[in-house]
Amino acid sequence: MNVTIFGTGNMARAIATRMLAGGNSVTLLSRTPDKSAKVAQDLAPHAKKGATVRVAALGSAIADPVVINTIWFHSAQEVIKAHSDQLKGKILVDVTNPLNQTFDDLATPPGSSAAEEIARVAPKETKVVKAFNTTFAGLIAQGHVANQPLDVFIAGDDAQAKATVAQLIEEGGQHPIDAGPLKRARQLEGLALLNITLQAKHAKPWMNSVKIVG
Ligand SMILES: NC(=O)c1ccc[n+]([C@@H]2O[C@H](COP(=O)([O-])OP(=O)(O)OC[C@H]3O[C@@H](n4cnc5c(N)ncnc54)[C@H](OP(=O)(O)O)[C@@H]3O)[C@@H](O)[C@H]2O)c1
Repeated sequence: MNVTIFGTGNMARAIATRMLAGGNSVTLLSRTPDKSAKVAQDLAPHAKKGATVRVAALGSAIADPVVINTIWFHSAQEVIKAHSDQLKGKILVDVTNPLNQTFDDLATPPGSSAAEEIARVAPKETKVVKAFNTTFAGLIAQGHVANQPLDVFIAGDDAQAKATVAQLIEEGGQHPIDAGPLKRARQLEGLALLNITLQAKHAKPWMNSVKIVG
């Protein structure tokens, strides 16, 4: 499968690494494409089974059925609105954690989540899926935690879209867990905030993950 990623930062690189390792081709769209040649160069060795990596400017045509947003929540809504026509009918995966300016709470309205706010500004034909937000970029790039596959929680209202995202996650060597409808993104974003808080409070190395065991 071919996947487009908005952004070329930590999460974009980490998720692209897993996609490429799973034999899925990746196009990263950046507002600074001049800097991105290096990103493509760094990612290329991870590509398996003929997968390819390329970079282009945000605003370029999107042919891929899955688009993964890794741009910070507060900027993502504008970027998604700007790509509205191209997102119709596609799966849009949101990885953001909408932290406030002091990183000690979520900045989304009560009873909502970044994923739901993003779904509100995306075309109604776009199938929004929350995924990857509870796993730190370093761990995603590594692909496992404590010698076990990473759990990647997904939430969304379209079963087929979730199945597609789960397949991409599995092909990258991770363990997808369906957490339910898109509104479960509220809890997934809360869970990520808790893990971020624990890393900071206990001076953890940002390489801990939430995993369901037993
Ligand atoms: N890092 C993690 O471990 C982690 C884990 C789970 C979830 N998340 C979530 O993932 C998101 C990204 O985190 P990150 O660590 O990957 O951040 P990052 O390294 O700062 O990357 C952010 C990317 O967004 C782009 N960007 C920022 N503002 C933009 C704008 N207005 N228009 C277009 N592009 C813009 C940046 O472009 P430039 O390179 O041009 O600046 C960069 O490519 C955040 O919402 C975060 O909460 C992160």
